[in-house]
Amino acid sequence: MTGGTSGIGAVAVSLLRGEHRVVLGARRPASGVESLPLDLASLKSVRTFAAGIRHRLGSEAIDALVLNAGVIRADADGRTVDGFETAFAVNHLAHYLLLRLLLPGLAPGAVVLLTTSGTHDPATGAGLEPPRHADARLLAHPELDESLPAKAGQHAYTASKLCAVLIVRYLATEYSNVVTPIAFDPGQVFGTGLAGDLALPMRVAWKVLGTPVGWPLRQFQPTLNSVPDAGKALASLASREVVPPEGQSYAAVRRGKLGWQEPSELARDVAAGVGLWEESARLAMPET
Ligand SMILES: NC(=O)c1ccc[n+]([C@@H]2O[C@H](COP(=O)([O-])OP(=O)(O)OC[C@H]3O[C@@H](n4cnc5c(N)ncnc54)[C@H](OP(=O)(O)O)[C@@H]3O)[C@@H](O)[C@H]2O)c1
Repeated sequence: MTGGTSGIGAVAVSLLRGEHRVVLGARRPASGVESLPLDLASLKSVRTFAAGIRHRLGSEAIDALVLNAGVIRADADGRTVDGFETAFAVNHLAHYLLLRLLLPGLAPGAVVLLTTSGTHDPATGAGLEPPRHADARLLAHPELDESLPAKAGQHAYTASKLCAVLIVRYLATEYSNVVTPIAFDPGQVFGTGLAGDLALPMRVAWKVLGTPVGWPLRQFQPTLNSVPDAGKALASLASREVVPPEGQSYAAVRRGKLGWQEPSELARDVAAGVGLWEESARLAMPET
């Protein structure tokens, strides 16, 4: 699991670790749970982590691959050591590579869960700049994107979350007999570490609304959820306590409860999913 050291993921880990063997990929060790070093801002680190997992597990298969880590940044100016835009590289490309590297070690029907966001959908985007496309080359190099909006940081984030749904839908088509793919949309969850790279007013609002002050808001807005509710939903999917109904792969938390929805029209674009899968391979696995 990635993204298990903070926020929604940390709650899920605390619920899972009593009954399941949980191994985290994380930038810093987490107490009380196995972990191996992983910095998603480096494809070399992803390869080292995948090799370390294979070595540690030996012949033991992976029952659930939970790709939950994510970042949002104020702009799209950051570049990883590999030269790719940071939010796209961390949220999508690194997870794509990890998935490709670990696919052979997954148990039959293993859960492959990618954490997405309702912001991938222009209809429910919570005011963030919606994604305009899922062109991996342009998302990796936004300086080449002639249609890049002014709020480029928001676009990088929402487009990376569109990528997550497209990859899940690709898996549902091409790997349906192999894995159980799930796109997990936790709703809007204040109080996590997600706003850490944003401007001070946003960081303060995010923190304050994550306290009991945010409770009245959650009563009126169905997409707002608490960290415990979102973490519990994530744990229930990772552990197979909740499984997708036939033909469904988009799990969303609304009013604190997990349900199944249709993702946005953009995310249902089959050709975009195929293009994303292939272009991501060219970027992350140029040797293949
Ligand atoms: N909160 C929301 O409203 C919301 C809404 C929709 C979707 N989501 C998604 O939910 C997921 C969890 O977010 P959260 O709100 O719980 O935020 P969070 O508390 O900031 O958790 C983010 C996690 O990602 C990890 N991470 C970030 N960059 C990494 C890197 N380069 N390498 C390895 N791990 C890295 C963080 O590790 P560190 O502990 O080392 O920082 C942390 O464990 C994200 O994918 C986010 O996009 C959140």
